[in-house]
Amino acid sequence: MNTISTDNVDETQCDMHDSRELNEEDSDLDQSYLGNFLVALYGASRFLGSRKLNRLIRRFVSRLEGGEMLSHSLRKIMRIYHGLQIGAYSYGCFDPTHFPPETQIGRYVSVGPKVGVYRRNHPMNRLSMHPYFYNPACGASAQDDVTSRRLCIDSDAWLGANALILPGCRYIGRGAVVAAGAVVTQDVAPYSIVAGNPARKICDRFSQHAIKAAEDSEWWLGKPSDLRNRFDMTRDWHAQTLDSANRTKQ
Ligand SMILES: CC(C)(COP(=O)(O)OP(=O)(O)OC[C@H]1O[C@@H](n2cnc3c(N)ncnc32)[C@H](O)[C@@H]1OP(=O)(O)O)[C@@H](O)C(=O)NCCC(=O)NCCS
Repeated sequence: MNTISTDNVDETQCDMHDSRELNEEDSDLDQSYLGNFLVALYGASRFLGSRKLNRLIRRFVSRLEGGEMLSHSLRKIMRIYHGLQIGAYSYGCFDPTHFPPETQIGRYVSVGPKVGVYRRNHPMNRLSMHPYFYNPACGASAQDDVTSRRLCIDSDAWLGANALILPGCRYIGRGAVVAAGAVVTQDVAPYSIVAGNPARKICDRFSQHAIKAAEDSEWWLGKPSDLRNRFDMTRDWHAQTLDSANRTKQ
């Protein structure tokens, strides 16, 4: 089977802190009875080098299983053939030409159009930086020895349109916002909003108190239907946590 090589991946990177966010057997996902067949067909089509057919299969699988947010088999295809792990309800991150191998994406992650993720630089300390001298696909060297860095995008992060995530960024925290067009060169702290080139923090989404309440709730592990019953998803979260703190005081 044609799987992703993890050679030359920088293993010191952070992984998703909570493996429940990447559970492939997630009951929140839809799986068609044709799913396993289509996953195998995708492998055969990759072996034959047909990118067009691969794109068509991905699109078909997605339609069959309720779209990107819900498709179980699409996640399986991304993991087995493209080295990408994607949690339930996340969307916008199923194009392997924009999201390289060794990327982990949590649940409820929103990715805007034309987001680009790059996990390695050309070798700047060598005589030439051209792929002819490090990429086996170009025939000149036996082994690709340029290190790729892993990336973890935690649950409920939102990446705005045209954001660029460069190799210096290894972690985008839970609930973080990357503004449209931001060029991210460093890790992004949970619940922070970063913007600009190079991206800098402009503010936090919530107060520390509201962040703690969000973290304690572990809401991102739930299904949307249950969450709508447990929380008021339409109201300002900071105000809600203040209300509940005041009620406790009385
Ligand atoms: C980051 C974002 C969420 C902030 O929205 P907001 O809270 O309404 O923020 P404001 O427009 O009031 O801007 C706050 C500050 O951040 C700056 N800012 C906002 N977005 C910025 C961006 N994309 N790049 C650089 N600076 C930005 C503003 O200039 C402003 O700076 P100032 O305080 O010095 O004047 C929004 O600007 C954004 O980028 N949204 C992404 C939309 C998108 O890509 N949608 C695609 C569909 S998923």
